[in-house]
Amino acid sequence: MAARIFLLGLLAVSFTVSTLASDPSPLQDFCVADKTSSVLVNGFACKDPKLVQADDFFFSGLHIAGNTTNAPFGARLTPVTVAQVGGLNTLGISISRVDYAPGGFNPPHTHPRATEIITVLEGNVEVGFVTSYPDHRLITKVLGKGDVFVFPIGLVHFQVNVGSTNAVVIVALNSQNPGIVSIPNVLFGSTPKIASDVLAKAFQVDKNVVDDIKSKF
Ligand SMILES: *[C@@H]1O[C@H](CO)[C@@H](O)[C@H](O)[C@H]1NC(C)=O
Repeated sequence: MAARIFLLGLLAVSFTVSTLASDPSPLQDFCVADKTSSVLVNGFACKDPKLVQADDFFFSGLHIAGNTTNAPFGARLTPVTVAQVGGLNTLGISISRVDYAPGGFNPPHTHPRATEIITVLEGNVEVGFVTSYPDHRLITKVLGKGDVFVFPIGLVHFQVNVGSTNAVVIVALNSQNPGIVSIPNVLFGSTPKIASDVLAKAFQVDKNVVDDIKSKF
């Protein structure tokens, strides 16, 4: 009996987690974000549908290369999420362009609310994600022009331009606001900082090593 209740509890927890992690379905044709509203909802309140224009569903500029000069890690993200296109509110989808200089990369990160599908337009990009505990298996591949790869929701993943030319990719994500949890920034660049002895124990290194890494953020 106790075991059965425990199992039901586990099922309830896993169901709740996967349900809460994805954008909900819309209850009407659209709900263009009204960013001037002070009403607090999950996402944004809706603009009056009578005032909605084509431009609420429009973005121009993904043909323009992101400037990778002085970009952190030699990669530049051009996002098209609900922040850029209010019409994406409640629709559970977004798209972005990423430009990488030769050697540029996107450090290990996760999107807490979205699966990502990446299409390479130019260049050669090594991609990878790591499965969760207990396997922690690295699944990785080098992609070329026209190749597509998927990063499942919540899993830590990365991209590296391994070619000698610039690389360009388009990514689509099933959230209006996928979020980015950058592993290095979260661990070493939080405000306030995580105590160095906690990180020293986690990485099994001397506290000075942790302080050195922290100083770079
Ligand atoms: C790219 O950024 C660099 C450094 O910020 C700047 O000097 C350069 O003019 C920019 N290039 C373009 C094409 O905007």
